[in-house]
Amino acid sequence: MLQHKKILLGVTGSIAAYKAALLVRLFVKAGAEVKVIMTDDAQDFITPLTLATLSKHPVQSNFVADYASGVWSNHVDLGLWADYFIIAPATGNTIAKMAHGQSDNLLTATYLSARCPVFVAPAMDLDMWAHPSTQANIATLTSYGNTIIDVEEGELASGLEGKGRMAEPEHIVAFLSNFEKKNIKSARFAGKKVLISAGPTREAIDPVRFISNHSTGRMGIELAEAFLQQGAQVTLVKGPTTLTADSAIQEVNVSSAQDMFEAVSSHFPTSDITIMAAAVGDYTPVETSATKIKKKDGNLTIELERTKDILKTISASKKGHQLLVGFALETNNELENAQRKLASKNLDLIVLNSLNDKGAGFKHNTNKVTLIDKHNNITNFELKSKEEVAYDILDAIHEMVD
Ligand SMILES: Cc1cc2nc3c(=O)[nH]c(=O)nc-3n(C[C@H](O)[C@H](O)[C@H](O)COP(=O)(O)O)c2cc1C
Repeated sequence: MLQHKKILLGVTGSIAAYKAALLVRLFVKAGAEVKVIMTDDAQDFITPLTLATLSKHPVQSNFVADYASGVWSNHVDLGLWADYFIIAPATGNTIAKMAHGQSDNLLTATYLSARCPVFVAPAMDLDMWAHPSTQANIATLTSYGNTIIDVEEGELASGLEGKGRMAEPEHIVAFLSNFEKKNIKSARFAGKKVLISAGPTREAIDPVRFISNHSTGRMGIELAEAFLQQGAQVTLVKGPTTLTADSAIQEVNVSSAQDMFEAVSSHFPTSDITIMAAAVGDYTPVETSATKIKKKDGNLTIELERTKDILKTISASKKGHQLLVGFALETNNELENAQRKLASKNLDLIVLNSLNDKGAGFKHNTNKVTLIDKHNNITNFELKSKEEVAYDILDAIHEMVD
């Protein structure tokens, strides 16, 4: 959910500041860009070097970064840069300053100028937390529209037991992801119905054997989750795979190519954007044995017949407003084959990946794709994570539906 989000993390002088390192790592891992502001006191608990290394950005603490050259940290720019400002851990002191508009350090001045949503994850001893002044300050921050990520209960650094621990970094990341999810209504695919197929199919030979392929379904699942994040209503027709998608996605689980054909055909008429990312078997046994085929001397021949061509079938009934995207996994004459598929199946866009590219196609968490649209515009992308590839595909689709 936090892919490409710009997160400004404010770290203050609490013993929980050491957890900021894990928080930065988790945000970066979730695909966010992170910049860190530290108060002077925070630097007694964790070094700026640690957070700068993990965030891949210099940590900022003072208004003036270099007196000799006059370089200063612009709190207004920092506040405008951020999609989210999170103060974690937030001391009683910083919370009090924020509640009263004090801006005597870079963190609190940035807070006053930030236009983005602000999240506060307090951390303090239980009596500090319970103190009426702290509770009044928290209520004031809430009344200003800030979101408090509630403290957790447990053993505190003082040795006391109770409420006051900063929420665990994993919980803070989950909190933000959920917030992002709720905000998706304003996103660019809001109101669009998206149908995606993913994963392999299984063609049964007998009750214990089948013909399948190496598809994991990851690319289709990443696409489904990216569309969900961008506000779409997503239906995912998924072949057998152990990977799971976000529970807000409507999943239709299928097994054979025929099952996938039926599920896709039934959802296609109401879909605005359809992406066929599944690796559908082209052939299926003419006969499926009802009982396990016994081993015998000599060879066994299984006669195969063509499965239904899902893309071709649905493209024949495609309406003007519908956008249809196919995938082509090729091993030779890649571009030519993909262009032929684009034209013959009347697609708006085709995503080509070649098994000749290292790290592309099946089994990898990465992919290297070329997008070809119906006007034969060709865009080559670098090897990226499948999540990033999904966003590139969404960008291309957004340009077409906009
Ligand atoms: C070892 C130690 C641990 C501290 N832990 C906390 C804490 O968890 N929460 C808190 O509000 N203050 C804590 N303090 C007090 C703050 O560091 C102090 O109020 C400081 O002025 C906060 O400055 P800042 O808000 O500008 O970072 C601690 C102080 C020390 C010496």
